[in-house]
Amino acid sequence: MVTNRLANQQLKVVIVGHVDHGKSTLIGRLLYDTDSLPDGKAEEIKRVSEKRGTDAVEWSFVLDAFQAERDQAVTIDTTQIWFSTQKRDYVIIDAPGHREFLKNMVSGAASADAAILVVDADEGIQEQTRRHAYLLSLLGLKQVTVVLNKMDLIKYDQDRFDSVAKDIKDYLKSIHLQAGQIIPISARQGDMIASRGEHMAWYQGHSLLEALDMFDNKTAPDSLPLRFPVQDVYRQDSKRILVGRVETGTVKQGDKILFSPTNETAIVKSVEVWPHDAEKTEASAGESIGITLDQKIFVERGHVGSHDVDLPLLSNIFQANIFWLSHKPLKVGDSLTVHYGTSEANVTVQSIDRVVDTQDLEQTAQAAAVERNAVAEVTLRARDLVPLDSYAKNPHTGRLVLYDGYDIVGGGNINMDRYPDQRINAPKAKNIYEVDSLTGYNERVMRNGHHGGIFWFTGLSGAGKSTLAMRVERELFHRGYNTYVLDGDNVRHGLCKDLGFSPKDRAENIRRIGHVAALQSDAGLVTITAFISPYQVDRDRAREAAPQHFHEIYVKADLETCESRDPKGLYKKARDGEIKDFTGIGSPYEPPENPELIVDTQHNDVDDCVAQIVSYIEKTIKVDIAKESKKQDKALHVS
Ligand code: ADX
Repeated sequence: MVTNRLANQQLKVVIVGHVDHGKSTLIGRLLYDTDSLPDGKAEEIKRVSEKRGTDAVEWSFVLDAFQAERDQAVTIDTTQIWFSTQKRDYVIIDAPGHREFLKNMVSGAASADAAILVVDADEGIQEQTRRHAYLLSLLGLKQVTVVLNKMDLIKYDQDRFDSVAKDIKDYLKSIHLQAGQIIPISARQGDMIASRGEHMAWYQGHSLLEALDMFDNKTAPDSLPLRFPVQDVYRQDSKRILVGRVETGTVKQGDKILFSPTNETAIVKSVEVWPHDAEKTEASAGESIGITLDQKIFVERGHVGSHDVDLPLLSNIFQANIFWLSHKPLKVGDSLTVHYGTSEANVTVQSIDRVVDTQDLEQTAQAAAVERNAVAEVTLRARDLVPLDSYAKNPHTGRLVLYDGYDIVGGGNINMDRYPDQRINAPKAKNIYEVDSLTGYNERVMRNGHHGGIFWFTGLSGAGKSTLAMRVERELFHRGYNTYVLDGDNVRHGLCKDLGFSPKDRAENIRRIGHVAALQSDAGLVTITAFISPYQVDRDRAREAAPQHFHEIYVKADLETCESRDPKGLYKKARDGEIKDFTGIGSPYEPPENPELIVDTQHNDVDDCVAQIVSYIEKTIKVDIAKESKKQDKALHVS
């Protein structure tokens, strides 16, 4: 009996790669080396190989046999092939074509935990290598091992291996996929699969089976954070019982539970099951239970319980990778219902970011429609905040089904990489009391001769925000106004030096600037801000910090124009894959929904734009001193 074997652990693996790079041979070899072939099969294949006069055993025949079985079973569109190592059981998911594979993956019918990408060491990366790798990234598969196959054909040459390994590493990096390991193998001869073989003493890394055994099976529902979507609330005598299925994680009596989207917390008083079991104090993934709480907080169907770490994200906008099933093509602006967990939300399709044809895996960016049987990346917007998990973080709750009325029209998984969490955390500090200033805002206005204000420039990088901000500041300064610009690149040298460009960091960047701008404006300064500020929700929050002073100014130029200007050479870097989350390319920009002013820098020259903004600002901040002082006198008399 082998120790350390992971009982009940089964890892699902998908093997992909360019045609003829050796997928089938590898599968056959894996089964043979792990002793997983049915009795007599190995001999049969050896016999057939001999008969056909191939110089080595043709392991790909194993798969042909499976294919024949599949051809007879019309309804099965995925073959599940099993093999075991000393550590655990594996299932190879093999679908007859891309379409079936993708459909299974996005619908959850047969989803893989890990992938092996097979590349011919002689031919190197080919078109399908790229497309398959992209699909792995689209499907949220994070555990990928690359095997450079057919090392025997290149005489186990280390230099050739190093050079193809580098190409593949660079390519995977450009699509945000990290290869765990890159392993030189010969599926035909059996090198570096189960045993290391004799030809590659120069290779110090792991063999393929060792690498597979190193994959995590984090997707086991028990080992994921707690998700308890509430299905119903029962009242039994004086008890209020929240009923639902523990989707992932475990919940125990005494646990502190936080409910989303309300952010309310309470302690689990009891875990209830039917029939009653007084001993039951804990439940884990897959169990349908009830819980009672120590406090009467507001919880209803659709709310999701979690512990107060590893929370789901809250967002009213998210991306989904979907498989479209309806005859009616999906279009931008369509309204659909999304079902996830026990909840549902009405959404509109904000954009179709990419469509992948499932026959030839051809991709189209920013498509007008998604046709039946295509896979697409779409951005969906809900009216309210919904609790969501990225599929990559939690494959059980990160899935969704799309409905048009009562019809299922698509399925898919959620990708939250491009949008920030909108949960507002409770303040950390306690015992905080606000202090009133002895000098009021109105007094400052009287002395300055103008109001304060926030003129929030938003737009793509290269749209002209900084140029206009600096020119407008100069002009206002000349005209005697107290004014100051907060600019993205400048602020990121100091106040926001600790922030990068992830959705979360961008949200924090704008949150800080929103408050600084509110303070500056209260101090009487005409504050101009020049930040991309790509998310509407962040700009809305900046407005909330000082709504009476806030003016959103859309510095408008389309992506093509900004890219052709490329003042800092950053668009080029982004296109070359050197900046992965560049706004407009790898990261979204949401144009303002209702800006107070739009300045079109694409069709107007700088002087025109400056004049438009200065005229708008002057109108807003001007104070009629005589009128104001009369008002203040009056106020004094009254008091
Ligand atoms: S924001 O998205 O958080 O509002 P911010 O305006 O502060 O961005 O900073 C944008 C500036 O940072 C750009 O003008 C550009 O010079 C630089 N930059 C560096 N990396 C990125 C990136 N990934 N996306 C956008 N801008 C970037």
